[in-house]
Amino acid sequence: MNISSSASESYKTIDASDLSFFRSFLQDRCLDSIEIRTEYGHDETEDLQFLPDVVLKPVSVDEVSKIMRYCSEKSIVVTPAGARTGLSGGCLPIEKGIALSMEKFNQILKIDENNHQVITEPGVITEVLQNAVREVGLFYPPDPASKGSCFIGGNVSENSGGPKAVKYGVTNEYVLNLEVVLPNGEIIWTGANVLKNATGYNLTQLLVGSEGTLGIITKIVLKLIPHPTHDLLMLVPFYDAQKACEAVAAIFKAGITPSGLEFMERDALLWTIPHVPNSSIEVKENHAAHLLIEVDGFDPEILMQDCEKILAVLESFETDEVLFAETQAQKDQLWTLRRKVGEAVKSFSIYKEEDTVVPRYELPRLLETVKRIGKQYGFQSVCYGHAGDGNLHINIIKGDLSDEFWNNELTIAIQEIFTDVVAMGGTISGEHGIGLVQKPYMSIAFNSVQLDLMRSIKNVFDPKNILNPGKIF
Ligand code: LAC
Ligand code: ZN
Repeated sequence: MNISSSASESYKTIDASDLSFFRSFLQDRCLDSIEIRTEYGHDETEDLQFLPDVVLKPVSVDEVSKIMRYCSEKSIVVTPAGARTGLSGGCLPIEKGIALSMEKFNQILKIDENNHQVITEPGVITEVLQNAVREVGLFYPPDPASKGSCFIGGNVSENSGGPKAVKYGVTNEYVLNLEVVLPNGEIIWTGANVLKNATGYNLTQLLVGSEGTLGIITKIVLKLIPHPTHDLLMLVPFYDAQKACEAVAAIFKAGITPSGLEFMERDALLWTIPHVPNSSIEVKENHAAHLLIEVDGFDPEILMQDCEKILAVLESFETDEVLFAETQAQKDQLWTLRRKVGEAVKSFSIYKEEDTVVPRYELPRLLETVKRIGKQYGFQSVCYGHAGDGNLHINIIKGDLSDEFWNNELTIAIQEIFTDVVAMGGTISGEHGIGLVQKPYMSIAFNSVQLDLMRSIKNVFDPKNILNPGKIF
């Protein structure tokens, strides 16, 4: 796979005079030891590693602006980084230069209870933000699996999802306004702190999901909603993984919108159980896949009725006994199990993660396609993900496969999967972004007219292509 950047640009290599400029105002927040550069040279994407020349850790928007103005004048590459939990390589400094860590931007600036909004810096851990607003009865729903370590700024940059997206939507639905430093150092706000806004192009939404290629986010205004007071959770074992996928659309057709509807193939669950202390989940020989189904709201009676309706739907799909979480501890354990699947797969083998998404009803066809192509090319896959969104994480296991196969033939197989996904009305990333590793496949999702439009937008924001070059397209 070609993972080099466009590379026709000529970027300035960082030298001693650049370092002394950065040190003049960042002091010991300008770091170039090999240990630090190694640390900032990777995220959670496969086993990829690209060393930056230097790591800068600004603390204020003015410092970010000063860095960008200087880098723009000198043509120095800057790659912004959050918590580096990404799965598509968006923060990897593939052209060296500066890794610009936003970790010092770690303050929640204001929880506005009157307007149900929060103003935050980007380096706040998502779960910390969720817990803070929950203290006052408010809810920030997007909850990627890495919510305990990822930054809200990274979530905005990748337009992250997570299990709650099926009912509450992904990050972009909550972003109202952003303070952004442009590649030339100018500081702008993208919109206004309002719930509706028909004023010109929507720069806010353009920045969401732009993977750090258009500007550096320094403040975020998010919409909040009242926190639901009750939830019910069940784990449903299926004898046939296809049937589990078919049940997903059927649940919605029965008029239920679950607050979580997750799919886990047998191996996903088996491999993850050892990673969860004291797990009491039993996966029987004939369990091919599980659905984890949650409903939430404010009225326990209604939630019970929803569960009964779900059980009635499930009767047509040959399931084993449904496990209802009876205590908060049991709910936490089931969610931990689900959230740790990625980590478990990673510790099992080198893997590639594809983040396919199709219209929900096509989910059984997507699973069938993945398994068929896997058989044809000879690779093992473990699938899990946000079934209610039609979003399947396909983890392809390297195991004993040769490097030759891994780097060449597998790319063709992935192209085949993606081509079928697009034919089903889906696309190649639901929530992990394109970053570096999905870039070679963009021409499956978009034609040259669409890609040229995107490139032109990038060029308007960043004519020197210094901000996170070589990503997306
Ligand atoms: C998850 C991550 C990989 O759903 O998106 O676990
Ligand atoms: Zn996910």
